[in-house]
Amino acid sequence: MNRKISPRAYEKLCLASYLSLFIIVISGGLVRLTGSGLGCSDWPQCNSERFIDVSSVHGAIEQINRLFTGVVAALVIAAVLGSLFLAERKRKLTQLSLGLVAGVLAQIILGAIVVLTGLNPFANMGHFLLSMVLIANAIVLYRHSCIDKNPVLDCSPREKQYLFGVGILFMFSVISGTVVTATGPHAGDENAVRFGFAISSVARIHSISVLLSLLALLLVLIKVKKSTKTREFLEQRLAIFLGVGLLQALVGYVQYFNGIPVVLVATHLFGAALIWSLAVDTIIVSGSGLSLPKNLTSSR
Ligand code: HEM
Repeated sequence: MNRKISPRAYEKLCLASYLSLFIIVISGGLVRLTGSGLGCSDWPQCNSERFIDVSSVHGAIEQINRLFTGVVAALVIAAVLGSLFLAERKRKLTQLSLGLVAGVLAQIILGAIVVLTGLNPFANMGHFLLSMVLIANAIVLYRHSCIDKNPVLDCSPREKQYLFGVGILFMFSVISGTVVTATGPHAGDENAVRFGFAISSVARIHSISVLLSLLALLLVLIKVKKSTKTREFLEQRLAIFLGVGLLQALVGYVQYFNGIPVVLVATHLFGAALIWSLAVDTIIVSGSGLSLPKNLTSSR
């Protein structure tokens, strides 16, 4: 019996792992935005009386999110096993998928800490930011899984540095965003502790870091337009990245000046995960972060 898994099937598994990690960011956000953060007062059981308790809407929402964690865990474990059953085994794929399993385990523990500390804002921020690390790990794994099909571009060291710099700026934008959330009204429960900052100050710092990120991205796009070697490959990708970034900034301002309505906050959350994915993926396909044999790079 042939127990090998094809590279294309493994690639799909890696993509599914990434998508599940993306979706759980949104479903976790919906727990917070519907005020269901303490829908279950205990962990892993819902409360001291019942393991599963769907007698309240908040409890049901919280438990759907916990159930989805099971789907994510199954996919990342399958990614590790899949890497061991590839016809041509690559240690890098096993290492990267093990990184996902370790991260999901850490998230399960951190999720418990979030609940047991009554939605402590530091724990909440850590929970969100670790999700961003997992998303980055999943993208690197996915790119590695299909590297033979889609060669990456071997950009110049200078271009790689620019793109890395843009990624760092967006990372600060994401971190400052979590501080705004930890200060604002959408904690997940009305009694949750909040940071005592003025919301206007943290929102200003967040929007300044966003504007700097977008400006840096625009400058790199202009630079790339002048490069004959990388232009065709990077220009469209960076233009899409910038377009999504501008839309996200628009949503950010509209939500801020309209009392932070839940629908816009959810949209902003989706945008944040998407932008982070674009930032990481752009760095990866430009040739950073992947240890590649020379024949798998392209200078289209
Ligand atoms: C590329 C652009 C942007 C990115 C990547 C981004 C990212 C983020 C992230 C990651 C969060 C935290 C989500 C969470 O912890 O659940 C957040 C929250 C927030 N952002 Fe942005 N943001 C951007 C633009 C803006 C702009 C321009 C504003 C305008 C002031 C803004 C206003 C807010 C507000 C008010 C929150 C808190 C929402 C809440 O209470 O949950 N954002 N952002």
